[in-house]
Amino acid sequence: MAKTTKKAYKPAENRYQQMKYNRCGRFGLQLPAVSLGLWHNFGGVDKFETGRAIVRRAFDLGVTHFDLANNYGPPPGSAESNFGKILKLDFKAYRDELIISTKAGYLMWPGPYGEWGTRKYLLASLDQSLKRLGLDYVDIFYSHRFDPNTPLDETMSALESAVKQGKAIYAGISNYKPEQTARAADILRKSGAPCLIHQPKYSMFERWVEGGLLDVLEKEGIGCIAFSPLAQGLLTDKYIKGIPKDSRAAKPWGFLKREQITEAVLKKIIALNDIAKHRNQSLAQMSLAWILKDKRITSVLIGASRVEQLEQNIACLDNLSFADEELKQIENILKS
Ligand SMILES: NC(=O)c1ccc[n+]([C@@H]2O[C@H](COP(=O)([O-])OP(=O)(O)OC[C@H]3O[C@@H](n4cnc5c(N)ncnc54)[C@H](OP(=O)(O)O)[C@@H]3O)[C@@H](O)[C@H]2O)c1
Repeated sequence: MAKTTKKAYKPAENRYQQMKYNRCGRFGLQLPAVSLGLWHNFGGVDKFETGRAIVRRAFDLGVTHFDLANNYGPPPGSAESNFGKILKLDFKAYRDELIISTKAGYLMWPGPYGEWGTRKYLLASLDQSLKRLGLDYVDIFYSHRFDPNTPLDETMSALESAVKQGKAIYAGISNYKPEQTARAADILRKSGAPCLIHQPKYSMFERWVEGGLLDVLEKEGIGCIAFSPLAQGLLTDKYIKGIPKDSRAAKPWGFLKREQITEAVLKKIIALNDIAKHRNQSLAQMSLAWILKDKRITSVLIGASRVEQLEQNIACLDNLSFADEELKQIENILKS
């Protein structure tokens, strides 16, 4: 078994001086403009101490929000267990400074109650997540995906129960389409457990949210946290010279597949990288700034496999503005 660092963690005293915090829709809750997700790099297959160092550094830099789901790993559940261990080792005294989220929706255990959106599954899964995390409550509990075979009222009633039982402070939804979002928002508002936030995939390479979702969120006063804002690492300079051995695309369990790195995609990455260079930013930084330029976005939810990536990405906050000409050039590249 790998050794656990014994050195006690003392967070940086200036941790709230460098991060930008945005209000989540019309809620009072603020989230850091850059949040950290534990989908990859925190599972049983990963090095525990690397993940622990990333979480420590994130908090030092003002990242107060950590995002999980029941199935993150691999194996499923192991990211929550590892994060629970990190909380116990390093963050016992800081629980009230943290916004921790988890989700249920994807396959977690066999049989008819192990995925999707029934009350049975969502509430059982939340109890399992709390156990793995070693927590009494999470800050946000999400329905991870819309279930076409369960009445939306039932799925939303599970979120409402979680909030009313004190197992979650806020309710959230992820991957819901605009019309599903409007219906969910209506049900939750009437239930007294209003929807705080929507978590959709959004990056320069994945822009479906621009086709109506962001308008619904603005109208409903719901926050938006954009996941995979770097398209799992494509929107960085890492694949320009080939596929590095330790990258997500090279790992057998990674969700980014080699086949996704086509000549056409690489051509766009190289052209975008040139614009980033002119802005004195890395492509990763420009890609995050490009999302944060829209005031309806509360936070970008990044992943990181090492501390240096996290540091580089948070420094996107040094330059969030774009000249019209730059936006036009980016648009032309994305449409090419
Ligand atoms: N709600 C949902 O359905 C859903 C789905 C997916 C994700 N999420 C959430 O979103 C979070 C982030 O997703 P993601 O990990 O796909 O986000 P991402 O930020 O698009 O990609 C992160 C990956 O890109 C690479 N990277 C990051 N910064 C870099 C840099 N500066 N230079 C070079 N490479 C860099 C790293 O991969 P390497 O391993 O190659 O270094 C890193 O693990 C997840 O952890 C999860 O919390 C939610």
